[in-house]
Amino acid sequence: MKPVRKAVFPVAGLGTRFLPATKAFAKEMLPVVDRPLIQYAVDEAREAGIEQMIFVTGRGKAALEDYFDIAYELEATMRERGKSLDVLEPTRLPAGALASVRQQEPLGLGHAVWCARDIVGDEPFAVLLPDDLMWGNPGCLREMVDDYEEVGGNIICVEEVAPEKTASYGIITPGATSGNRTEVKGLVEKPKPEEAPSTLGIIGRYILQPEVMRILDNPERGAGGEIQLTDAMARLIGTQPFHGVTVGAKRYDCGDKAGFITANLALALEREDVGPAVRAFVADLR
Ligand code: G1P
Repeated sequence: MKPVRKAVFPVAGLGTRFLPATKAFAKEMLPVVDRPLIQYAVDEAREAGIEQMIFVTGRGKAALEDYFDIAYELEATMRERGKSLDVLEPTRLPAGALASVRQQEPLGLGHAVWCARDIVGDEPFAVLLPDDLMWGNPGCLREMVDDYEEVGGNIICVEEVAPEKTASYGIITPGATSGNRTEVKGLVEKPKPEEAPSTLGIIGRYILQPEVMRILDNPERGAGGEIQLTDAMARLIGTQPFHGVTVGAKRYDCGDKAGFITANLALALEREDVGPAVRAFVADLR
């Protein structure tokens, strides 16, 4: 079984749900406490053993690459002022560990992932959607890699979603369940509640076999007229093992304003530096 060494981060999205904040600014750079969303996803990937980060970017996303580069002026100024550079440590990736490709047109998640096909090559890979901030120890992808090492094939993270919210998610047709692992018998992107095969929704973490890229070579338009990753994955079912796993990490949907604010509050409360002040404020609200 080939190890999962590469991860694709689709980060070309326009972030329209956060306008005007994201008008001149990548939504993945929105901070939760003091780290941008992309940092959480990259940290989770590194913890899971990922060596190569592949960003699928678009216009206006240069900050994402700069963020993981050395900032000579900033660092020189900080040094001159006797400030510690430790705070920048999470932004340092090993040389060559970050590659990026452009998705020139917003044609859908399946298309974004397919844009990374040549860098991914012929090996299994992870996909992380930074909007889903997965917070836990071990991290979500770490848990999924552990499952992958047991059963191989394709693994997606799933979670029970509210029955009225199925049209916001890829939904699975579940088969046999054993522990945290459920066999995936079918997949449908964003079904109406009355058409949903279950309420187990796909969360933005995937471990996929490279054959999905061959399916995406000849894509079909799906929900919303977009090239959907879910549709391509559905065509792998029956040809390769396919499992959904539930994980211990908690999900904050940072693609949504309320979810984003909740994430800030929850993570701030856990911190030694800002936690006490935030807790005092929240206690006062009651
Ligand atoms: C994407 C996927 C969907 C998945 C969701 C998880 O949708 O297409 O299957 O359930 O991410 O966050 P999006 O949220 O980009 O519309």
